[in-house]
Amino acid sequence: MKRIKSEYGDVMVYRDADEVAHAAADTLVEIVSGVLADRDVARVALAGGSTPKAMYKLLASPAYRERVEWRRVEIFFGDERCVPPDHPDSNYRMARQALLDHVPLGADRVHRIAGERPPPEAAAAYQQALMRACGERPRLDLVLLGMGPDGHTASLFPGTAVLDERNLLAAPVWVDKLESWRVTLTVPVLSAAAHVVIVTAGEEKADALGKALDGARGAVPITLVRAAEERWIVDEAAAQKWRGRD
Ligand code: 6PG
Repeated sequence: MKRIKSEYGDVMVYRDADEVAHAAADTLVEIVSGVLADRDVARVALAGGSTPKAMYKLLASPAYRERVEWRRVEIFFGDERCVPPDHPDSNYRMARQALLDHVPLGADRVHRIAGERPPPEAAAAYQQALMRACGERPRLDLVLLGMGPDGHTASLFPGTAVLDERNLLAAPVWVDKLESWRVTLTVPVLSAAAHVVIVTAGEEKADALGKALDGARGAVPITLVRAAEERWIVDEAAAQKWRGRD
C-alpha cells in the first residue's frame, strides 16, 4: 500500500479491489472504535452502489463481526434510489443483506431512506429522522462514500441543482441520465462529518479520480465534500490517471 498526501486528504493506494475492501473494513473498525472510546454511540452513514458490498460482507464475517460494538452504532444512508426497500436497486437492501442482517444492531438504530415514498416526502422525512437522531446540525462520525465514473458521490450528480443546496440536509434529485429519482444527503451534511472515507476501485473510475485529485475543488462533485478528515481508499486501477500520485 502507498499512502500519498493530497489536497483532499490522504490517499491509500492498494493493489486491487479485495485489498480495498479489507482496508475499508479495517478503517471502519478503527474509526468507530475511536468514537466509542469517548462516546456512547457512533453514527455511521453507509454508501450505496456495488463497491462497498465486499467491505460490508467482510464486516459481517467471523473475522470482523466482533471487532465492532454494533449495539452502539447508529446507521444512516448517504443516498437511496427511489425504489421499495426490497427492490434489487435498493441501497438499503444491499446493505441489509451484506451486513445489517448479520450484526447485532439495535432495532431503532437503522435509519433508512424511504425510497418507496414520493421523493420530496422521502427527503423531508429523512431530514426529520436525521435531526431527531443527531440534532439541528447533524454531525455524523463517519460517512462512507463511493464515486461514480462521472465523479458523482452519494447522489450528488454533475449538473444537478442539489450540488448547490446549502440549507436542506436531505434532498430529492432527478438524474436525467438515469431517468430516475434519488434522495441524497447534501454537501453541508456530508462535509460536517468528523470522518469521510471514500472507497473506490476499478479502471472505470480512473478518469474521475484523476479529475478529482488533480483538479480544483468541485471540478467533480465528490470534491465538494470537505470534511474535517478525509481518506481515500483506492486501487491501482482507479489511481492510474492521477498525476499527483507520482
Ligand atoms: C449509489 C451510490 C453512488 C455510488 C457510485 C459508485 O446509490 O449508487 O451512492 O454514489 O457510490 O455510483 O457506485 P459503484 O460502487 O457501484 O461503482
